[in-house]
Amino acid sequence: MKKLFLIIALAALSGAAAAQEKIFSITACTSESPEDSMNFSWATDKAITMATIEVAPARFKDWKKAIRDNVGGRYCNTYDSIYSKTAKGENFYEDVKISKYNASVGKLKRDTEYKYRIIADGDTSRVGHFRTAGAREWSACIISDFHAYLPLYARTKAGMDMVRTVGKHGMPFSWVLHLGDITAWGGSYSFWKNLYEEEPFKEYMWAGVNGNHDNMTRNYSKCTNEFFRDAAAYPHNGYEGEMGVCYHFRYGDVLFIMLNNENMKSEEGLQAAQAWVRKVVEENPAPYKVVCEHYQWFFGADGKTSQYGRWSRLFDELGISLALAGNNHIYVSTHPLYRDEVVEPGKGTVYIQTPSSDNERGVACDLEKPLGHNAEKIKFRWTEGGQTVGGMHMQVSRKKMTLTLLDRNGKILDVTEVFPTK
Ligand SMILES: [Fe+2]
Repeated sequence: MKKLFLIIALAALSGAAAAQEKIFSITACTSESPEDSMNFSWATDKAITMATIEVAPARFKDWKKAIRDNVGGRYCNTYDSIYSKTAKGENFYEDVKISKYNASVGKLKRDTEYKYRIIADGDTSRVGHFRTAGAREWSACIISDFHAYLPLYARTKAGMDMVRTVGKHGMPFSWVLHLGDITAWGGSYSFWKNLYEEEPFKEYMWAGVNGNHDNMTRNYSKCTNEFFRDAAAYPHNGYEGEMGVCYHFRYGDVLFIMLNNENMKSEEGLQAAQAWVRKVVEENPAPYKVVCEHYQWFFGADGKTSQYGRWSRLFDELGISLALAGNNHIYVSTHPLYRDEVVEPGKGTVYIQTPSSDNERGVACDLEKPLGHNAEKIKFRWTEGGQTVGGMHMQVSRKKMTLTLLDRNGKILDVTEVFPTK
C-alpha cells in the first residue's frame, strides 16, 4: 500500500514538473519602441511548434479582451550538448532541443501596466508583467555581473536582492537595464532557464548587452553571441552578424544603443560597430543618447584607460550623453568629458561602469590610494572587494538624468547628474 502511494505521489509530482516545463524561459524584452510595443521570448519542447501570446492591461480582470498573437516556434539547438554543471555540481552535457519563439506585440498604450501569458499545447504559462514607456518622468534599475551559476544559487540571489533594493529607492523603476555577465556560462541553457524564474524577470521588461560570460561555455569550448541572442528577443535593428544582439531603442527622451564587445576586439570589428553607432545616432535624434557595452571604460584599480580610449572621440563627435558599462567589477563614474578634458555638465559624455552584484566575484582594490591615471577625469570609485553587491537607480526627466549607486542596504554611495547633450 505504502509503495502504491509512493508511486502515485511520484507520478503526480513528475506530472506537475512536466506541466511547468512545457513553456519556459519566458521574458519580456524591449522592442525598438517600448512605448507602443513589446518583445517576448520563450521556449517549448521541440515537439510543440505553435504558441499563443496574450497581452492585456493589468487592470483587466480576465483575458477576454486581450491582444492575442499566434507565434510559430523555430527549432533551436544553440545550447544542445554543451558541457555544463547541474545545480548539485555534477558534470553533464545539456540536452537542449527546443522550439524558440520571438514575438513582438504592438498597438499597446503608453505608460500602462500590462500582464501577459503564453498558451501552448493546452498549457497556460505563469503571468508576467511589464510597463510601457511614455511617462514624462521614469526610472530604471541598472545591474550587471551577477554571473548566474546553478551550483551557486547565492550569486543569483544577491543580484536579484539588489534589484529589489533598487526598487525601494526613490521613484519606483519600470524596467531593468543589464550591462552583461548575468550568467556564468551563457552556453549553459539551464542557467538562463532558472534565471528567468526569478521574480524580477517576471515583473519587468529587461534590456541588456552581451557580456563575455554570456558569450561563452564552460572552458570556452564555444564562444558565440547566439547564446545571448537566443535567450532573449531583442530588436533586430543591429548590423551584420549582430541582429538581436546589438540593437537600439527609444525609451522616452533617451536613445539607447547596445553594443557587443565580443565582436569589437579587432580593428575591423570596432570599425563596423562605430559605423553602425554613427548611423543610428544620425537617424534617431534624441535629447539623450546613451551607449551601453560590457567592457569597462577605465580600469578601476588604477584608473588606466580601457575602452574609453577606443570610443571617446566618437562619443565627442556624436554628443553621447552617457556611456554605461560593467565587467571590471569596480564601479567608476567620471565627470563630463570632452576631448579628454573635464567640461561643464551637458557639454560632454559621462562614463559610468557598474560594480558586480553577486557577492562573490568582486575585485578588491585600495580605494584610498591616489589614482595613477586619469585622476582628474574620475569622480568616484567603489568596490567591496570579493564580496561586492551594488546596483544603480536611474531617473530620467526632460531636464536631467540622475544616476544613483546603491549598496546592498540601499545606502547611497554616488550620485551623478547627466544633462541632455546637443
Ligand atoms: Fe563579470
